[in-house]
Amino acid sequence: MSNRIAVLPGDGIGPEITKEAVVLLEEIARLFERNIDIRYGKIGGIAIDEEGTPLPEATLQLCRDSDAILLGAVGGPKWDKQPAHLRPETGLLALRKSLQLYANLRPVSVFSSLADASPLKRELLRDVDMVIVRELTGGLYFGTPKERREGEQGLEVVDTLYYTEAEMERILRLGFEMARHRRRHLTSVDKANVLESSRVWRETAERLAGEYPDVTLTHMLVDNAAMQLIKNPSQFDVIVTENMFGDILSDEAAMITGSIGMLPSASLSESGPGLYEPIHGSAPDIAGQNRANPLATFLSVAMMLRQSFQWTREADVIERAIETVLAEGWRTRDLSKPGESCLTTAEMGAKVREALVQYV
Ligand code: NAI
Ligand code: MG
Repeated sequence: MSNRIAVLPGDGIGPEITKEAVVLLEEIARLFERNIDIRYGKIGGIAIDEEGTPLPEATLQLCRDSDAILLGAVGGPKWDKQPAHLRPETGLLALRKSLQLYANLRPVSVFSSLADASPLKRELLRDVDMVIVRELTGGLYFGTPKERREGEQGLEVVDTLYYTEAEMERILRLGFEMARHRRRHLTSVDKANVLESSRVWRETAERLAGEYPDVTLTHMLVDNAAMQLIKNPSQFDVIVTENMFGDILSDEAAMITGSIGMLPSASLSESGPGLYEPIHGSAPDIAGQNRANPLATFLSVAMMLRQSFQWTREADVIERAIETVLAEGWRTRDLSKPGESCLTTAEMGAKVREALVQYV
């Protein structure tokens, strides 16, 4: 059976980092004798320039026909002033929506050799290993009405926090499942002291907890969660939360590691392909210079192999190779101190590939 992977390099550093990720994937496939079928699609600014739309129909179809999608990044100053339908980000949003990618997963762990890059004290970082599971297609960002209008007191504005119980159950269940396969601790984050939606969220979590007796469920109010992430980040295993809380908390948690070039993500649907991408953007300031850090994209590949293909060993090998290369002191520019020598994107790719072999 052929495992089809759609690769969407996108803009800025996207093509440089996905190129290295594809070579890494091919090396893994060779070492483990796996069949993979890689096909390329256009998204974002390059698709606007060449096809007149940020998400061409052919790209969407390619993604639908694939088992998993690897994306670089989209966007850049060139397209910033365009109307919404001609902006790169619109392509990514449309892709998430079309494929019903309702769950965004962001693992946060600290490579001990990079602990100095974190704004937090070293002793707080020990044992930090969490995943944030964020609902991605509902809540305040999508609810209607969403409008400005003239009221009796002048301008009024309304956003709507709308969820169905089924949408809540779907994401909470994923949280329980993830926790079950990790350290069996699920923290459900809400604002149940104020919001009706959060009360139903909490009731739903309680109900599901009966099906997962092996998982310890803790409820935490979102304001406290924001504080606890900084105060004691190692207490968390899996955090599950709704769209807006997850947006804010996942960026906060990402900063615990201190390096945007290191963090992967996955966006999953119920049955279609998952989308895997680094959390950083297209970094136009360093694009084309062969100095971007490809490790977030490599870690996204590891997530893809584990999540979409259940190739656990292959994923482990990639992660261990990265850990080894970092422990040996190899750095790309973003991770190194001023004046220190460092590796190019391509050299980092080669180092990680060389390090794979010892773990196969
Ligand atoms: P950014 O993440 O692209 O860059 C922020 C800073 O981090 C820059 O100084 C950049 O050089 C550095 N950086 C990012 N990734 C790096 C890597 N792998 N290696 C080394 N350094 C790295 O965020 P920014 O500057 O706010 O946005 C730039 C463009 O990217 C915008 O057009 C934005 O809309 C887009 N963007 C796209 C995203 C996506 O495709 N998922 C996510 C975030 C932003
Ligand atoms: Mg955000």
